[in-house]
Amino acid sequence: MASSFFRKALKSVSFYAFGLFNWFLFLGLFVRSGTFFKKDSEQDKLQYAIARDRFWNLSKAPFPGFRHFFYTLRNGLQLHYVSNRHGPSSDNLIVFLHGFPDSSMMWRHLMQEPAIPSNEATIVCVDLPGYGGSDSFKKYDTEVLEALAEFVIAMREKYISADAPDSARTFIVGHDWGCALGFRLASEAPCIADRFTMTNAPHVEHALANKDRLLNSASKIFKQFKHSPRRNFGCLSKSLNTLRPLLRQTLLMGYIFVFNLPPIFVKYMGVAGNYSFVRGAHRLAYGRGSTEYRVQESMAASFGPGPEECKTSTLLGTDGKDADTYGPSVLERAKSPKQAFWNMTGYYRDGAAWRPWTKSLELLADLYSLEEAASQPNSLGRRRSSVSNPLFADLVKGSVKAPTYVIWGEQEQACSRAMCLDGLGDYLGKDSEITILPRSGHWTPVAPESRLALATAIGSYAAKDATPMPTMTSEVQKVYPDAALVVKK
Ligand SMILES: *[C@@H]1O[C@H](CO)[C@@H](O)[C@H](O)[C@H]1NC(C)=O
Ligand SMILES: *[C@@H]1O[C@H](CO)[C@@H](O)[C@H](O)[C@H]1NC(C)=O
Ligand SMILES: *[C@@H]1O[C@H](CO)[C@@H](O)[C@H](O)[C@H]1NC(C)=O
Repeated sequence: MASSFFRKALKSVSFYAFGLFNWFLFLGLFVRSGTFFKKDSEQDKLQYAIARDRFWNLSKAPFPGFRHFFYTLRNGLQLHYVSNRHGPSSDNLIVFLHGFPDSSMMWRHLMQEPAIPSNEATIVCVDLPGYGGSDSFKKYDTEVLEALAEFVIAMREKYISADAPDSARTFIVGHDWGCALGFRLASEAPCIADRFTMTNAPHVEHALANKDRLLNSASKIFKQFKHSPRRNFGCLSKSLNTLRPLLRQTLLMGYIFVFNLPPIFVKYMGVAGNYSFVRGAHRLAYGRGSTEYRVQESMAASFGPGPEECKTSTLLGTDGKDADTYGPSVLERAKSPKQAFWNMTGYYRDGAAWRPWTKSLELLADLYSLEEAASQPNSLGRRRSSVSNPLFADLVKGSVKAPTYVIWGEQEQACSRAMCLDGLGDYLGKDSEITILPRSGHWTPVAPESRLALATAIGSYAAKDATPMPTMTSEVQKVYPDAALVVKK
């Protein structure tokens, strides 16, 4: 009893201690880099207002050819998204899911890539709950998955016309949190899309299994050492060596420990030194010496509409009558960047990535009818029901049951290859593939070289006349010659 109590206490003390250590570390870095005391000039403020208006004024086009829309979830909350279409067609549908600390606006550079089939596909970039122009949730647990699955199904109904040829397909592209959540959707609601493209975030179940495996073997080796320390002295260093990838991953994830500190610390981290944290993330995203990086533009993309934009409305409502506006919770976040940051980091606290997901009856019914439709003999073009497909049997817990393409910047700053990529192939099903981009980091959709690779991959399967490729990697290599094929199934 007492010993388990102490063990628990020790665990949470070291958890918070490591969080606090990182908190101070970050503040130190901000001070050292000089961003901490940098004040915005009038010019900066003006540019920020212009960027906010451009991205979030609902009566404007956030990027060429795109307009603002809202979807009201069954729980009454709104999701905000931008799209190049306003009604049904027979074209493919691509839904983009961003990550932290971003919004739908992070896709703005990717959308300008000529390889993205904007003219012949419906593109939907949505703000995750609590981000950009989407409403705040009370908690960021599996409610988020529920919302995203419902949203994708609703977009299929809205944009793929009922008499569309069965070849109109649905794709999901996810980065960072959009990727971690995308892996869960591909595993637990695979029928909502025909292919998932996931970039730079862990498949959490797989990363946790990697962690357990390392802990297990380290502890086995350590036991040998304990058994006869003198004879098996070498086992001590061997056991520590085994743990090395885990330790490295823990250091890389320091910011996650910071987000699990009490609110006052997290909220301060969000605004400290004039938003040094988020600014730092942007600078990393674009890479050193980028000529595309605009501080104010990136900040406007991360922090969503301001109080001014919350007064605007779409030209035409979803139902064709009333115009839509941002929900009241968006205005609250607009007035308080600390609340905005607290919501964005909620995903790291509330278990969206690992809590067991019990689906609502409504969603189960929707998924069931998608499965049914897919297994009808007359729907030739559609992927047949994957769940009844023995090739997608649940071999490993959490394995993905829809074709999945993973494109991974190897210089990833937050997820080590050893913990998050090695062995991922075991979790992928038929028609899946992993490509590594050796010179790219975490922000594949932003950095110019990797986003060209990503756009090329998307174009190769989502364009109207797309035909199956032997490998996606060979397409990517046309624009990123040293891209490497790691897994092909
Ligand atoms: C950031 O700088 C601007 C301009 O000087 C200032 O108005 C604002 O209060 C600063 N924000 C923080 C959190 O320090
Ligand atoms: C939003 O844009 C419209 C023009 O498209 C402009 O008239 C309006 O003033 C803008 N709203 C705000 C709050 O900036
Ligand atoms: C999210 O933001 C809202 C304001 O929109 C705030 O009232 C709420 O406390 C925040 N909730 C979480 C879980 O972050």
